[in-house]
Amino acid sequence: MSIEQLNSENPIGIFDSGIGGLTVVKAIQAALPSERLIYFGDTARVPYGPKSQVTIRKYAADDTAILMRYQPKVIIVACNTVSALALDVVEKSCGNIPVIGVLKSGAKLAVEWTNNNRIGVIGTQATVCSNAYACAINQLDPDIEVISQACPLFVPLAEEGFINHPVTKLVAEHYLGEIRKQDIDTLVLGCTHYPILRQVIEETIGGGIHIIDSAEAVALRTRELLSESGLLNRSGKASVPHLLVSDLPQKFSMLYQLFMGSELPDVDLVEV
Ligand code: DGL
Repeated sequence: MSIEQLNSENPIGIFDSGIGGLTVVKAIQAALPSERLIYFGDTARVPYGPKSQVTIRKYAADDTAILMRYQPKVIIVACNTVSALALDVVEKSCGNIPVIGVLKSGAKLAVEWTNNNRIGVIGTQATVCSNAYACAINQLDPDIEVISQACPLFVPLAEEGFINHPVTKLVAEHYLGEIRKQDIDTLVLGCTHYPILRQVIEETIGGGIHIIDSAEAVALRTRELLSESGLLNRSGKASVPHLLVSDLPQKFSMLYQLFMGSELPDVDLVEV
């Protein structure tokens, strides 16, 4: 199906490796309550961050193909790792359907916020090694210094629901100790799982540092894009997101309720 055949009733497709992208779902729901949302969490293959570029690009193509079955009017890549290493794969796999990645929105917001031109970025191993944030930030402002730190254990901790757990505090201390000394005034949560651990991250990094969560920026960009293309759903009817997962871990329901503040809607298992 091409974009010309779509209408405002078509859904917004969103995907991530696991539950992290729910932070984006929440922001989209708040900004665009009438939109139908299809969310795919690749819970059978999470985490993506420690995997190779070849594997991440393959997963990105699979995830896009799953969402394309639902004829989305836009695809949101609610995963920084895929946004950093495989956005072109998603774009290629969905023809002329527009694609929005979290990385560019986060980079733009960080550039708008920094006053001292020193931005910290935390993300998965793959995102940090790709240098994609530094490139996106320096494309907007070459004078900004970007200090990056991979925090791979944050993803399993978030997936486990270890939100305020002493282990998470210990791990945060280990990862953020060095970046805290770097005189940054802005810290980008460059992985959609990290806002789930935001409180611990904020406490550990210390006061006076502005935290960037790209979810809200992505929601605003989505509204802008749908509005420009005449595809904004103005029905006024709120709908629950349609959830797809590749595995249903026991904790999924509990975590969903915790982050979304609502009961778990029906979840469909899909094969990847
Ligand atoms: N939430 C994803 C991201 O934003 C992926 C985390 C992972 O699976 O390692 O990068």
